[in-house]
Order: sequence, then C-alpha cells, then structure tokens
Amino acid sequence: MIIQDIEFTMKDGRKALIRSPKDEDIQGILDYLYISAGETEFILRYPEECGKYTHEGEKALFDRINASANEAMLVCLVEGKVAGNCQIAWKTGIKTRHRAAVAIALLKEYWNQGIGTRLFQELIRIAEENENILQMELEFVEGNTRARALYEKMGFRIVGIKPNAIRLKDGTLLNEYYMIREIRRNSI
Ligand SMILES: CC(C)(COP(=O)(O)OP(=O)(O)OC[C@H]1O[C@@H](n2cnc3c(N)ncnc32)[C@H](O)[C@@H]1OP(=O)(O)O)[C@@H](O)C(=O)NCCC(=O)NCCS
Repeated sequence: MIIQDIEFTMKDGRKALIRSPKDEDIQGILDYLYISAGETEFILRYPEECGKYTHEGEKALFDRINASANEAMLVCLVEGKVAGNCQIAWKTGIKTRHRAAVAIALLKEYWNQGIGTRLFQELIRIAEENENILQMELEFVEGNTRARALYEKMGFRIVGIKPNAIRLKDGTLLNEYYMIREIRRNSI
C-alpha cells in the first residue's frame, strides 16, 4: 500500500520526510542496506551478504509492496538522503491474518532523533486501520537496548525468547526476543 507523505521535525531540529518508496530511492536504499549491516550486530546481515540486493530487485520489491493490500514500506528521508526504513506485513490466511509483522532499521547517524518513534506511530496507525489485525509482532536481538526501549515505549512487551537464535562470526551466540503489541478492538 501507499501511505500519505508525513513531514516531521527531528530532535535536532531538522525536517524529515516519511513516505512510500519510489524508484529514486533505490540507490539510497542499497547504500543503507550495506552501511547499516556494518554499523550494528543487531541487523541480521553482514555487509558482504548484501550483494544479493540489486537495483532490479529493489525496484521489484518497491512495486510489489506499494501495490499490496497487506504490506507497506515506509522510507525516511533527511535532507533528501535515505535515513532508513520500516515495514509492516500481514498474511491473508484466515488463521493468521490477525498478526502483523514489523521491522525497522536506520543508519547510525540518524539514531536517537525520534525517527523510530515517528515511524512506529505510523505502523501502529496502519495496523489499527486494518480491522483484521489484532496484534503486531517483532523480534530483537539480545543486547539491543535502544530497540527494546523504543518498542516498550510504543506498547510492545516481551512474550518469548529463542535461545541462541543468532551466531556472530566470532562464534558469539545471542538470544532473540519476541514482542507483541495488541490492537484493541471494541468488538472483542
Ligand atoms: C532501534 C532504532 C530503530 C531506534 O530508532 P531511533 O530513531 O533511534 O529511536 P527514537 O529516537 O525514536 O527512540 C529511541 C528511544 O530509546 C531511548 N534510548 C536510546 N538509547 C537507549 C539505550 N541504550 N537504552 C535505553 N533507552 C535508550 C531514547 O532515549 C529514546 O526514547 P525517548 O524518545 O523517550 O527519549 C535505531 O536505533 C536503529 O535503527 N538501530 C539499528 C538497527 C536496529 O537495531 N534495528 C532494530 C532491529 S530489531
């Protein structure tokens, strides 16, 4: 789906724009995927694994998500540069269409500016507007205190843990935590 453009002011006073992805964002997204993979262990890819992301692949992804009724990508741009993005997607099967999965990552230079908060407000709005959705779901890797703080602020709570879900190159094993946030419906 396509979302309406949102302008907001970051904590440092700069303006930011949130909107659905456009073809002109492809190179910015490819750069962001590669750079962010090297900036934190909490993203599930290493920079050398980013070769699979191509211009054509991102274009096809943007086109598919923008045309989808059950998926959205929100790109955040600061001074014309891609700062990061987030996604929401839910299945269409009767037994699982009440669950929306969300994910987010930003380039390090844009952390702690309120972008994650504003993106999550919009993800929650999308979930609330789709009447089948009863809960939002996400995962974070052990040690990611910034992400956990954001998610708890936005109403998510930990509901489970997968031990040793992540294995870093140096052999370090990290747990993955599962969080959900209920969407309250008057009819339930
Ligand atoms: C996690 C991430 C998306 C958060 O986005 P963000 O724009 O930095 O978040 P915000 O600035 O909106 O909010 C972060 C909140 O956490 C707080 N915070 C920051 N660092 C913290 C820490 N180490 N411990 C606890 N709280 C922390 C901030 O004070 C802020 O709360 P406030 O607005 O009430 O002051 C972003 O930092 C990021 O992309 N990180 C790398 C990729 C990643 O980890 N993605 C998530 C994978 S699950």
